[in-house]
Amino acid sequence: MVDRPNVIVKRTPSQASTEAFQRIAKFASDAVEQRGKFSIALAGGTTPRMLYQTMAQGGNAEQIPWDRTDVFFGDERDVPHDDVESNYHMAQRALLDHVPIQPDRVYPMPANAEDLDSAAAEYEQTIRRVVPEGPDGVPQLDVVLLGMGGDGHTASLFPETEVLKEDKKLVASHFVEMLGRNRMTFTYPLINSARHVMVLVTGEDKADTIAKALGPDEPVRPLPIACVHPTGGEITFVLDYGAARNIEDQPQ
Ligand code: 6PG
Repeated sequence: MVDRPNVIVKRTPSQASTEAFQRIAKFASDAVEQRGKFSIALAGGTTPRMLYQTMAQGGNAEQIPWDRTDVFFGDERDVPHDDVESNYHMAQRALLDHVPIQPDRVYPMPANAEDLDSAAAEYEQTIRRVVPEGPDGVPQLDVVLLGMGGDGHTASLFPETEVLKEDKKLVASHFVEMLGRNRMTFTYPLINSARHVMVLVTGEDKADTIAKALGPDEPVRPLPIACVHPTGGEITFVLDYGAARNIEDQPQ
């Protein structure tokens, strides 16, 4: 990571989730006020579940303009959407089933389609249809939420995979050797076009990797998360004490 992004550190995963929610709520109200709608791409894995549950809680849910919101997914596994492994399934159970969003404004990623390349291209067209372009002609989502794996992967951009070099497609499907599975994912051009990229990382098991990603030295094997550089927007890392354990100037 060359330019040091915003790094917010909170004591616990719950406080980090609340911080992330509060920021998303602000981005959403600004988006609706300035442009009449709000678009967000949700992250998968396990970390964001607490954030989604926080977003769905009582008073919090009312702070998001769900009737003006479009929800996408930054990546998805090659399983049906009702499979417990599905990122859509996790978000549906933790958030989407509990808020008044119109079903036709939730766009599950078709990572289990027969023809994955066509499905990825179709998903990209949907994003192009729904999300206004930014200055570089790429759809500019208001928020792209990301997590980070222990190897520094984010969305389904895994280390040393060809998809990291993709500079044309905005959504791509690829076979991930280390998983032995197909994944569908946003590529860097789409992620980097966002107004706000928010990376939520918690837990001591991520401390070494996040310290490398945020540190001044270029690691020998580049970490995909460290190559996220919004072209016109901003990137914020929201961490808990565990994840921030190896980062100087200890947490607030
Ligand atoms: C996925 C995610 C992925 C995730 C990291 C961290 O589909 O797995 O999109 O990029 O953010 O793997 O996952 P955890 O939050 O479970 O550690």
